[in-house]
Amino acid sequence: MSTAETFALDETGKIDITDIYNKPDPRSYYSTLRDLDYQIPETAKPVFQRVISAYRRAHEKDKVRVLDVGCSYGINAAILKCDLEMDQLYKLYAGQAGSRTKRDQLLAHDQSLIDECVKDTDLEVVGLDISKSAIDYAVEAHLLDDGVAANLEGSGPPPGAAAVLDEADLVISTGCIGYIGKKTLKGILDANAPRRPWMTHFVLRMFPFDEIRELLEDFGYETEKLGNQTFVQRRFASEEEQEQVLQRLSELGIDARGLEADGWYHAEAFISRPVGDHANASVGKLALSA
Ligand SMILES: C[S@@+](CC[C@H](N)C(=O)[O-])C[C@H]1O[C@@H](n2cnc3c(N)ncnc32)[C@H](O)[C@@H]1O
Repeated sequence: MSTAETFALDETGKIDITDIYNKPDPRSYYSTLRDLDYQIPETAKPVFQRVISAYRRAHEKDKVRVLDVGCSYGINAAILKCDLEMDQLYKLYAGQAGSRTKRDQLLAHDQSLIDECVKDTDLEVVGLDISKSAIDYAVEAHLLDDGVAANLEGSGPPPGAAAVLDEADLVISTGCIGYIGKKTLKGILDANAPRRPWMTHFVLRMFPFDEIRELLEDFGYETEKLGNQTFVQRRFASEEEQEQVLQRLSELGIDARGLEADGWYHAEAFISRPVGDHANASVGKLALSA
């Protein structure tokens, strides 16, 4: 039995792991998620890379600013800027869970590691997360270029947030829709107006994307789902969690056979772009081309 199996379920039927989102450093986050074979940042990586390339081509610019919503400790930033794999991140942090290493030591180590390993130097990644501890760590470790801790589901952006949220070329998320919805995305769109960043969200099948799609339509976007492809997020922590999620999927009329029924959460990728802003990059190409 893994440590993750001891977590209670939240109102959506998922285990409640908010505790690990708020620690001073990422060790608990990675050790808990490794137990669950959490992998959506890595399964999402090739799609994000293709969308970034397509954006660069469509806008003829190399420097791209990505806003990662629900960025936690900067996982997507590490993966995209440094071309890292989840296994490397798990080794780096989960391996140290329970060790006496102090936050400062971990930070100093990360700063030099990240400074050395950045491969895409034209990629700037900034983050938004409700967890101040996660944002602080990710920024201090040089994983994020900037970050803001805020809950845009509750109220508007706090003072100073616009400087992080605006000027985005691409807004991304993994594992975050469900915690956040259209209020957060509207806050981001307002902060960026009149600019319209592209968006790519990886969303668990248990969370309908319809409301967000409609919001984005009002802002002049069209949203396409990446084919019939699904992306493995993590395995269920317990039979109870799986049962709750299967129940929810069945209520939504979603067939879980061969997917969640086999013990894994699956996400879908939604790519939203302003109408007319992507003539040469169809979603099919984003799925298939390198
Ligand atoms: C499952 S984690 C995903 C983290 C990261 N994107 C990944 O894939 O590893 C969900 C994240 O959403 C954040 N979150 C929850 N509610 C939020 C809110 N209202 N606004 C912003 N972030 C939120 C949590 O703090 C947590 O970091």
